Amino acid sequence: MIPEDARSVRFRLGPPSVVDLLDQTKLPGELTRLLCTDGEMLHDAITRLVVRGAPAIGVAAAYGVLLTKVDPDMSAETVRRRYRETIALLATSRPTAVNLFWALDRMTNVIESADGLNVTALRDRLHAEAVAIDTEDVDMCHRIGRWGSEVLKPHRNILTHCNAGSLATSLRGTALSPLYHLHESGHRLHVFADETRPLMQGARLTAWELHQAGIPVTVCTDSMAGSLMRAGQIDAVIVGADRIASNGDAANKIGTYPLAVLARHHGLPFYVAAPTSTLDLGIPDGDAIPIEMRDASEVTHPVGHHSAMVPEGVAVTNPAFDVTPAELITALITELGVIHEPDRESIARQNPGRSARTGPNVSAASG
Ligand code: MRU
Repeated sequence: MIPEDARSVRFRLGPPSVVDLLDQTKLPGELTRLLCTDGEMLHDAITRLVVRGAPAIGVAAAYGVLLTKVDPDMSAETVRRRYRETIALLATSRPTAVNLFWALDRMTNVIESADGLNVTALRDRLHAEAVAIDTEDVDMCHRIGRWGSEVLKPHRNILTHCNAGSLATSLRGTALSPLYHLHESGHRLHVFADETRPLMQGARLTAWELHQAGIPVTVCTDSMAGSLMRAGQIDAVIVGADRIASNGDAANKIGTYPLAVLARHHGLPFYVAAPTSTLDLGIPDGDAIPIEMRDASEVTHPVGHHSAMVPEGVAVTNPAFDVTPAELITALITELGVIHEPDRESIARQNPGRSARTGPNVSAASG
């Protein structure tokens, strides 16, 4: 497991309050932290992927609401307006991971139900909500780990894409949590980590955290997956998700969809592991998921390269995510259990009464 000083998000309640982030843009070379003291700084950090991964973005944003500058002399209306402004700002940081909006919705609900609270009491309520979002995420990741380990038990060589581990969550991760679980119970595993162009989250982050944990990991370029599968070197694929539509279509890091197609072609299981905070039951299918378009420079100047890898004047496209249709997903693993061949009906059955961007009822979870 990653050391305590590598927790992706930490928070200190002030004044001054600080959202303390592991700077993931510097890994694996440097273990440095960035201290965010206002909403603009945190917005910039989320945009630049200092903190990244759907659940970690949500946790960081929840704490980020507490960076709002308020004081006891302000009127209740001014205080609430200031909090709302921070929430509106943070909501523009990244569009795809629904956990961001889910967490900010929870913080908004606290503010909107705060009638009669003084500044300190409201701040304490907001703090308690952010801590709950953080600790629930740890719990959800553990539960995903337990469910997912049952699913992955028959397999040894597992391919994953991007980073859906401790760095992307409060702890342990989603797609990587079952791997930690299996490793800790003595199961012999070997993980292939796709390097994950263009920002190399697989090579830089997944390889780093699995290596720290003593789990054997081999980095491969994204384009190697097909031939590795054909050669029988991969038994199963597991990935995380940034947003899952009500029919089970799942957005995840660009390059996930071709892996699902390859897995189907080679008769391999393709698993998606995500907490229910990643479900967006308010949208019908993957076509409605907003896909973040990032700067062309991430492609023209790959991580660590100062000179251009693409001739000047040539067009470049850089979508950060793609959508895997539900029919290519063997099973969806959430903290509530495993949904085999997920579809609209099975997802609704697992999440009765939930609609768009409402929080999970973790206390009712089994597993
Ligand atoms: O752009 P990133 O690095 O934030 O993308 C992250 C992913 O695609 C992860 O797989 C996803 O957020 C799940 S993290 C548990």
